[in-house]
Amino acid sequence: MRSKVTKAVFPVAGMGTRFLPATKSVPKEIMTLVDRPLIQYAIDEARAAGITEFIFVTARGKNALEDYFDHAPDLERSLRKAGKDDLLEVLKSTNMDSGAIAYIRQHKAMGLGHAVWCARRLIGDEPFAVMLPDDVIAGDKPCLQQMVEAYQETGGAMVATMEVAPDRTSSYGVLDVESHNGAIVKAKGMVEKPAKGTAPSNLAVIGRYILTPNVLQNLNKIDRGAGGEVQLTDAIAMEIDQGRDVFGYKFEGHRYDCGSKAGYLQATVAFALDRPELQGEFQDYLHDILARRLAAQ
Ligand code: UTP
Repeated sequence: MRSKVTKAVFPVAGMGTRFLPATKSVPKEIMTLVDRPLIQYAIDEARAAGITEFIFVTARGKNALEDYFDHAPDLERSLRKAGKDDLLEVLKSTNMDSGAIAYIRQHKAMGLGHAVWCARRLIGDEPFAVMLPDDVIAGDKPCLQQMVEAYQETGGAMVATMEVAPDRTSSYGVLDVESHNGAIVKAKGMVEKPAKGTAPSNLAVIGRYILTPNVLQNLNKIDRGAGGEVQLTDAIAMEIDQGRDVFGYKFEGHRYDCGSKAGYLQATVAFALDRPELQGEFQDYLHDILARRLAAQ
């Protein structure tokens, strides 16, 4: 039996420049899909996968995130007084048990690998998950739960992977595939943002990982890579060079890149259309606005 994965690291110290000016004062992870912040989707997914310890790697200007997971006694009291039990229930998912959540500062945005390394003392000597909240994954079974189940069979390090168009591989970490076994892919290499035409496959790595403490050791050793940042991909690729297993997991579900404007807007529309209370009116509106746009062209 392998160790259970109970800790997850949420690197949220990036600057979110693609959403400026909003992210000048609002952390990207607090931006909402309908009425829930991006971070709430990630936390719900982590809980479904059995995570009980939540480690946030934050930066200056991210206080709204800490407040979001705090209890709000005044608000709760007034909702209780007004008999708004449904809203009290909604708030429950934002509360964390004391000691379940920890915040670590990354003093300078030196890359995803560096952000994960900042959490090393809280991770200790056990496997852990890494979740990027700007990748929102909709599906019947939460993505991290699928991966945790697969990890129980494989061990090693595991990254979520999906097929992308060949002209998009240069935006991602990409797997060099040794073999396929259903949803599980054994990797013989991994490269971050390969130059156009050089990608070893079209299997891109997206923001869900299950990693071993050894990856933290590797992060100690590596220099800055692509884009001048300390790349998590490079530390995972080192595992392969050291003779350890690295797997890709082809998850079931739809991934929205909410770190980009187009992906964020697509997710907003899709999640709104899934809400029974919005569905009818919102769908009619979309029909209407598209029909008018097409007529005007
Ligand atoms: P991104 O590459 O999307 O960068 O980071 P970003 O700063 O969030 O956004 P843009 O590109 O400027 O618009 C991917 C994830 O890694 C985290 C980010 O917070 C995000 O969750 N990250 C990135 C860190 O925590 N620290 C870093 O130094 C870099």
